[in-house]
Amino acid sequence: MIVAMSTIDKLIARMTLPEKLGQMTMTAASHAVTGPVSAGDATDSIRDGTLGNLLNLVGPAPTRDMQRIAVEESRLGIPLLLGFDVIHGHRTIFPVPLAEAATFDPWLWERTARAAACEAAADGLALTFAPMLDVSRDPRWGRSVEGPGEDPWVAATFACAKVRGFEGKDLASPASLAATAKHFCAYGPVAAGRDYAPVDISERTLHEVHLPAFAAAVRAGVAAIMPAFTSLAGIPMTAHKQLLRDYLRGTLRFDGIIVSDYNAIRELINHGVAANVVEAAVLALRAGVDIDMMAGAYREGLPVALERGLVSMAEIDDSVRRVLRLKARLGLFDDPYRRGTVAEAPAVVAARRALAREAATKSLVLVKNAAATLPLPSSVRRVCVLGPLADAWREMRGPWAAAGYDAPGVTVRAALRESIPDARIDHAAGVPITGGDDAGIAAAIDLVRAQPDAVVLCLGEAAEMSGEAASRAAPELPGRQREFATAVFDRARAADVPVIVVLFCGRPLVIPWLDERADALLVAWFPGHEAGHAIADVLTGRVSPSGRTPMTWPRSLGQVPLYYAQYANGRPENAADRFTSKYLDASSAPLYPFGYGLGYGRCAYTNLRVTPASAGPEGVFEIAVDVTNEGSRTAEETVFVFIRDRVASVVRPLLELKGMAKVVLAPGTTATARVRLAATELALLDVAMRSVIEPGEVDIFVGPCADPARLLSSRVLLCG
Ligand code: GLC
Repeated sequence: MIVAMSTIDKLIARMTLPEKLGQMTMTAASHAVTGPVSAGDATDSIRDGTLGNLLNLVGPAPTRDMQRIAVEESRLGIPLLLGFDVIHGHRTIFPVPLAEAATFDPWLWERTARAAACEAAADGLALTFAPMLDVSRDPRWGRSVEGPGEDPWVAATFACAKVRGFEGKDLASPASLAATAKHFCAYGPVAAGRDYAPVDISERTLHEVHLPAFAAAVRAGVAAIMPAFTSLAGIPMTAHKQLLRDYLRGTLRFDGIIVSDYNAIRELINHGVAANVVEAAVLALRAGVDIDMMAGAYREGLPVALERGLVSMAEIDDSVRRVLRLKARLGLFDDPYRRGTVAEAPAVVAARRALAREAATKSLVLVKNAAATLPLPSSVRRVCVLGPLADAWREMRGPWAAAGYDAPGVTVRAALRESIPDARIDHAAGVPITGGDDAGIAAAIDLVRAQPDAVVLCLGEAAEMSGEAASRAAPELPGRQREFATAVFDRARAADVPVIVVLFCGRPLVIPWLDERADALLVAWFPGHEAGHAIADVLTGRVSPSGRTPMTWPRSLGQVPLYYAQYANGRPENAADRFTSKYLDASSAPLYPFGYGLGYGRCAYTNLRVTPASAGPEGVFEIAVDVTNEGSRTAEETVFVFIRDRVASVVRPLLELKGMAKVVLAPGTTATARVRLAATELALLDVAMRSVIEPGEVDIFVGPCADPARLLSSRVLLCG
């Protein structure tokens, strides 16, 4: 039986102020993981009721012990809310979110979240600080890896799938986690791509690009929201009353909890909007932040603020009520030990490795395959597996690998040895991921000199080079990898040996030279525990690659921020006309456009038809296109539907993603991909920022990626 609201109000009536502020406080159970402060031991605070929430405590025994102290030794016995960053898997690590976004597969997104929720709940957890929904268009920003990429439609679709997966059908289920949509909002466009830096974007960009995913998460029933560390147009998100109270709780009717980021309330002092912790606590409470993570600001500042009449007990009670209501919805009052007691059958855990392999395989993006270098021919008998990421299982999990740090992953080297057992696999790292040590290059080149059938060159970033506090001013191959790769290419060219590059990264890297030299280039991101098996599946042709990049890849850093949905401008690029929008010293075209990715088939699009030709605001357009696999191998094709509103009351993007469909095609077959597009999806924000559907013509584009040259188009009429 869920605790009725009156029961919660009766409980609040019995609570002392320290106990109330305890329910509004969350500290790390052990060492600090993502911030400048550490909490030390929480046991006494839990026992005296002045701490009601913990993060970073994992495992059936430790969570049960702490929960028992709260429930059986504290005065009121209020159960703890136990949270953790379950970002891309818990014990079984799936591809990093940016890689999962590359699958463009909402059902897969939901399944991996569901699997992660089961594992985390079995470890005693009830809350995850995920999904991260920050749209990112700047590869310098390390946290691009944690999110769904550059597109708001993808981000909103991702939000719904992840919230459904984490929270399941019943939040009280012992296999459900409360999800946290983070980081609200517009964290991605930090100044100069530098983490935590101020954000200053237009109201239009805020509403058209950065808010849709959070609105979708609220519609999907997300239980919590976490404000970003950053300030937006001069107002820190942790104190942003207008967006937290008026927009989230007012316009969106969000009724869950708002949990601050790590120490973020106290950091309002650094932002310069609070002179001390009392003022910081007042600002955060007034903005609607219910739980103070790791700052101790509510416990320290609110008693003084109450005395001075700066806040009311009613405001505090409102936050306490929301926290207790979430605990009730999670079933914690009914049975505080329900999570962490259901041991999972080994077969269930093992099955998740299969899901991890499926997700990893579908996240790989083949961006070059000259002369059909891939898949490796079955006759291959000798392969050189080179590079600092060829046998580095710890790196395969990427950042935010939760409780999956201690379980070994599968490397490229190990998986190739398994998948082509008749072939000789030679290995050399060549160079480390970072640093100037190049002593290993010669030995690696000797292996290439020995005339293998192919070289698999595993390059890229270390896992810690993306994620939080991991911005890079020059997002290229680190260390001496470029020198190493050049030596390999030169030697392989002389020996007429193809070089297949497997690139591990948490963001698009600036690698036009690598694209030029590699015979084949597979972007692997950080694929998780089953990295090696997934990569071997694609390299050997057991699976055709189907991933598509969810972020645009620039040719040079000077192009950044670079994304497909650029607004139209008055002087669109024209190579023949100097006075148009372009660079004197570089191309303005991306290296790989949004949605780009190759398969082993070759798909042609024909016969685009959109019906009806015109519709009113309640209408629905049926979009259909025939896709034929003209290749010799099966292909899984993601078909994108973009629109462009050519004449509107405000400037519109050149392309906007509004839908997608997938087709799997055997060689020589044709299938029809269909997408339904409601006229309401064509709404825009007018000059006054009101959502309107404006009469007029709208172009519909369909194709494999956001490259206008590869899109079929049609035109429909929106009637008033
Ligand atoms: C971090 C991150 C946030 C995470 C939290 C708890 O600093 O910004 O994404 O959920 O702290 O670890």
